[in-house]
Amino acid sequence: MSDQTSRFAPRVFSGIQPSGNLHLGNYLGAVKRFVDWQDRDVETIFCMVDQHAITVWQDPADLARSTRELAAGFIASGIDPERSILIAQSHVPEHAQLAWVLNCVARMGWMRRMTQWKEKAGKHAEEASLGLFAYPALMAADVLAYHATHVPVGEDQKQHIELTRDIAAKFNHDYGVDFFPETEPVIEGAATRVMSLRDGSRKMSKSDPSDASRINMTDDADAIAKKIRRARTDPDPLPETIEGLSDRAEARNLVNIYAALREITADEAMAEVGGQQFSQFKPMLADLAVDRLAPIGAEMARLMDDPAQIDAILARGAERARAITAPILDEVYRIVGFVRPR
Ligand code: TYM
Repeated sequence: MSDQTSRFAPRVFSGIQPSGNLHLGNYLGAVKRFVDWQDRDVETIFCMVDQHAITVWQDPADLARSTRELAAGFIASGIDPERSILIAQSHVPEHAQLAWVLNCVARMGWMRRMTQWKEKAGKHAEEASLGLFAYPALMAADVLAYHATHVPVGEDQKQHIELTRDIAAKFNHDYGVDFFPETEPVIEGAATRVMSLRDGSRKMSKSDPSDASRINMTDDADAIAKKIRRARTDPDPLPETIEGLSDRAEARNLVNIYAALREITADEAMAEVGGQQFSQFKPMLADLAVDRLAPIGAEMARLMDDPAQIDAILARGAERARAITAPILDEVYRIVGFVRPR
């Protein structure tokens, strides 16, 4: 931990967009790591970022369903809404309020350099929403509204957390304060970038049109096993050591998934499965994935039968969250010179 960070009590924040299905990449790269943090007895806040989701069009009924389903996914994966604070972003208005201030700190050039902006807006930047461009400033606000010191994420979010640090540092500098922490991205484990099961050069993603490219957390045992058995691979057996996977993206991806599900390192995984044919390895991986994932999907379905209970959990989470964010926003408003109502 840097000196800066250590001035602040450790506090973990992370978020996931409720757009489309929660998939294996989200689970191994994010949610599973969140559970580890929660179990380390640190204050943890996890968020369904519905305001981020609408930076691209979302059908309203689907967004509401996905938000509750994501909450169910968090809980079914082991997030305990008593030990962690579980929230929907739009329930905690300080996120968007702080985002406005940070919009005025962040520079256009910084936002334009964001890989995700370039990928998502592509050649159609003129038609992209203003929200999509400003997205990383809202993300910075999510984190900084809690003075969060650690943000567990998959590899694809690293640049956004680095930007969060830049925005925090510029705010501190411009106003001559030492108010926001330097947040650390935490990118850990064997599966920080899970790739598509159909194409090892592409990230597993909610937006891939091919459902066979990803394992959804709501897939049943049959679907999980089938997708793994049909995952694209090359014809050679697995190499004996990890180095032999360097130019074999699909094989490497399956080994990383195996390691992350088994909670071992990729090296340890190779000691177990190195040299195996895919005809041997894939069924073993399929059994492991079904064993670890199918109960989560079943529990999500059970929780989704009682949406009122999910809503009550989120309402309680928002109340606890606002006890943290309201005083921080108040101080930000004071720092920037807004006259406060008496
Ligand atoms: P999102 O919703 O795209 O993804 C949620 C989390 O899952 C991780 N992830 C992956 N990890 C490994 N392999 C993959 N294929 C994979 N796909 C996704 C992501 O890295 C992320 O950790 N902008 C964020 C949401 C966000 C946020 C925040 C995160 C909003 N505010 C504040 C942290 C802190 C996003 O779109 O993630």
